[in-house]
Amino acid sequence: MKQIYFPEPFRIKSVEPLTVLTREEREQKIARAGYNVFALASEDVYIDLLTDSGTGAMSSSQWAGVMTGDESYAGASSYYHVQEAAQRIFGMPYVQLVHQGRAAEKVLLPILLAGKKYAIANMHFDTTRAHVELAGARAIDCVVPEALDTTTYADFKGNMDVERLERYIRDLGAENIGVVIMTITNNSAGGQPVSVANIRATRDLAHRYGIPFMIDAARYAENSYFVKQREEEFRTSSIADIVRATFEGADCFTMSAKKDAIVNMGGLIGCRDKALFETVKQRTISFEGFVTYGGMSGRDIEALARGLDEGIDENYLRYRIGQMQYLAARLEEGGIPFQSPVGGHAVFVDAKKLLPHIPYYEFPAQALAIELYREAGIRACDIGSYMLGNDPDTGKQLEADFEFTRLAVPRRVYTQSHLDVIADALLNIKERADKIKGYKIVEEPPILRHFTAKLAPLG
Ligand code: F0G
Repeated sequence: MKQIYFPEPFRIKSVEPLTVLTREEREQKIARAGYNVFALASEDVYIDLLTDSGTGAMSSSQWAGVMTGDESYAGASSYYHVQEAAQRIFGMPYVQLVHQGRAAEKVLLPILLAGKKYAIANMHFDTTRAHVELAGARAIDCVVPEALDTTTYADFKGNMDVERLERYIRDLGAENIGVVIMTITNNSAGGQPVSVANIRATRDLAHRYGIPFMIDAARYAENSYFVKQREEEFRTSSIADIVRATFEGADCFTMSAKKDAIVNMGGLIGCRDKALFETVKQRTISFEGFVTYGGMSGRDIEALARGLDEGIDENYLRYRIGQMQYLAARLEEGGIPFQSPVGGHAVFVDAKKLLPHIPYYEFPAQALAIELYREAGIRACDIGSYMLGNDPDTGKQLEADFEFTRLAVPRRVYTQSHLDVIADALLNIKERADKIKGYKIVEEPPILRHFTAKLAPLG
């Protein structure tokens, strides 16, 4: 029997033409880009899977909101709309606008980490880790071990390893830990969901030791959809109820609204404590702008207010996760290895398994990303040793746990035919996998090298 995936619950009103270059042209473009996909011009890309962040398609209602957005410096109506939506959806009394997720981290984390040594998360996203370190603390990841094996099925591979978390708290001393963070979904482990039971257990453990519990809520809606599918208690709950259960008892959250709120720019901070909120507001004024706009233009705030509700629409989420599952099923059929089961926003292809002859220091996941561009003009990125970089002390190349080529799918942007192109391209690459060569770095900056480094093909 054929599985029927829930199709698009929308029709297309406005289209954006795409260029399709020839293979020879793509060869020239990627060589000229120093084999770095970040150096490609977007107009030379056919399907852009670099990120699902800020790349979604807004609805006609959101575009209408762009016209009615209130650009007042203080007390704009759009500000009140976003407050109303966020307080209702997340059940948090205090909400602050900022311009994106890392701005929320920049404002909030130094407050939580003042005088502390550690933040512990299921997994920190890169910018979260950076802001923990900038605040003078160390970031510790504590994900369940199932996350590290791409082939075994588990419903909630994004979960916190709660027993290990308790050992960390005892060993490091609760007084040294500024915050326990739950990233939903767990981006770095492959967009893997976290169960509400695990969120509650983590929250209760943190609170038992007097440590604040924070949610990194970038993909709050996709996580809630997985909870509905996979967690018995929530089988018949609405997505809105699951989101409320997710945030219940959390002390605060940071959110990049560029993902599940389907806007091109925006972020939020939420908290329950009035005194904490006062400090958040003061820091927002210094770093972002006055509290009622927080670094955003009124039109973007209005689009965000509407996007928060659109993101939790169950028909939309069924389509969204259905797209990921369709692509994953095609790859599975063709024997392409990936972090399985597929997560909410991306397929993480296991390049270590697809290109086993390329060692980590010749960057198999980067080699696969380059091959996808050559094959069909698809832009994906390396989440592996190429991105991880060198040991800051020894200068030697580090070996990452995973060599993933991430295919992040923007929201409401690509059709099922695009997904077929992606699957077919990977199947073609698999046919000639043993002939694909690794790369060496010929030029690199000292930090975050993957954005600007230049590479050259080996052999
Ligand atoms: N937290 C998570 C879990 C994220 O995935 C991101 C961004 C951020 C925080 C930072 O948010 O970009 O708005 O400042 N992730 C993007 C990605 C960039 O491609 O995964 P931001």
